[in-house]
Amino acid sequence: MICAACDEQTEVNPCASCDAEAFLAGAYRLESTLGTGAAATTYRAVRVEDGRTVAVKEMVMSRSRADKSKELFEREARVLRQLSHPQIPAYLDDFTVENGKMRSLCLVQEFVEGTTLAAELGVHRYTEEEVLEICAELAELLTYLHGLSPPVIHRDMKPRNVMRRSDGKLVLIDFGAVRDALKDADLGGSTVAGTFGYMAPEQFQGEASPATDLYGLGALAVALLTRREPHTMLDAHGRLNWREHAAVSAHCHATIDRLLRAEAAERPSSARAAMEAMRAPPPAVGLSDPRLLLDGPRVAVKERQHPEDDPFHQPPMRREAGDSVTPKRGALAVGGAAFTAVALALMIGIGGLVAILVAAPAPPPPPIPIPIEAPPVDVPAPPTEDLGSLIRQGWTHADSDPDEALKLFKVALALSPEHQEANLGAGYVHRKVGNPAAAKKPLCKAASGSNREIQREASALLSASGLNCAE
Ligand SMILES: Nc1ncnc2c1ncn2[C@@H]1O[C@H](COP(=O)(O)OP(=O)(O)O)[C@@H](O)[C@H]1O
Ligand SMILES: [Mg+2]
Repeated sequence: MICAACDEQTEVNPCASCDAEAFLAGAYRLESTLGTGAAATTYRAVRVEDGRTVAVKEMVMSRSRADKSKELFEREARVLRQLSHPQIPAYLDDFTVENGKMRSLCLVQEFVEGTTLAAELGVHRYTEEEVLEICAELAELLTYLHGLSPPVIHRDMKPRNVMRRSDGKLVLIDFGAVRDALKDADLGGSTVAGTFGYMAPEQFQGEASPATDLYGLGALAVALLTRREPHTMLDAHGRLNWREHAAVSAHCHATIDRLLRAEAAERPSSARAAMEAMRAPPPAVGLSDPRLLLDGPRVAVKERQHPEDDPFHQPPMRREAGDSVTPKRGALAVGGAAFTAVALALMIGIGGLVAILVAAPAPPPPPIPIPIEAPPVDVPAPPTEDLGSLIRQGWTHADSDPDEALKLFKVALALSPEHQEANLGAGYVHRKVGNPAAAKKPLCKAASGSNREIQREASALLSASGLNCAE
């Protein structure tokens, strides 16, 4: 935060620069830093007026590219102001702090005493019953959000954005990626936001509906059950292939996989329907369904199995029956999923040809999804808007999480090696993490592209690092 006494940035109290007591806007005394995320830092603070402990989310605006973050922040404040639910932090205030050097946007919320599910995950192994109950409780909360007019879509469901309060109840935080379902004329109505691995395929197209949060909920469940980041389990089709990483019953598997359908229309019809499915008693185990017997005890986590050891392991390059819908919508979803898969494959260094599957008319869904083979085809070039969204995501993380940003820019570059802005991004981040040698090549590429503004930025970064492309 900007220290009111010396205008310098401090994350501790007293101020790291001038040793004065650090106050935000003179009204909130800084206590500690709770988290530093993609676009903002969240502090624990005390409201001087009445001694109330609050959470202050602050976004410092310093770069020309911060417009996107500002837009998300203002939207978050607008949405939080209208929410009223015991499991969502109450909105208290928002304000802007200006000074000569910087501008920071601050959002003040009720302080939640508790820990995030991400932290809880580090010290607790969830059973599948616990995970289904967590999802049911969150689905109940989503029923409230999606029932608002217009529906509020969170768009960033993940363990780090859910807290368990000291009374045991779950609280949903971080509405930074929220989007009113009504088209926002001023914002153009299409914004990509979310966290890679938890994002539904339609989010890569800048689209979101209530079903988008159900996908996020499914990915959250997978993270809790497998204790892995979902993006590490995306298969060649962009589908979360988590079965081999968690020993759960067929009922649990099917319930969560239903949330993770690539086609939004194939997910549960509403958050309420998802909640009911999660709270439904598992079907009785019978010989007619041998998987229920073979799936073993209901222990959430098991060590990684060799695929051949798993009688139900399916090789990659397949999809499940019932995944495709009408060709038009199916093509879009498959395109998005394929793009994700390609991005992932490139990110984790899988070389060679990656194939996707053609959407075909869906047979009626069987009681247990039966994998079917479909002919692979070459991967089409990613749509430019996907590249654009990757790059935007990269910039969102560039200052706060450079490693993540670098990954995103690298994926963009793997897809389009000469992309001027992706090169600028990669160079910017390399430089930021103190690796100017690695920054040289991408910055030189960015400086030689046709976009003047990017040229200028790249040249400025090159000269600031003492780098000369001619050498
Ligand atoms: N209202 C709150 N009460 C207590 N802690 C909070 C609150 N809001 C956020 N936090 C903490 O701050 C961290 C970052 O906040 P979050 O809103 O998720 O921001 P970001 O956009 O940076 O992810 C959270 O993971 C959580 O630990
Ligand atoms: Mg967050």
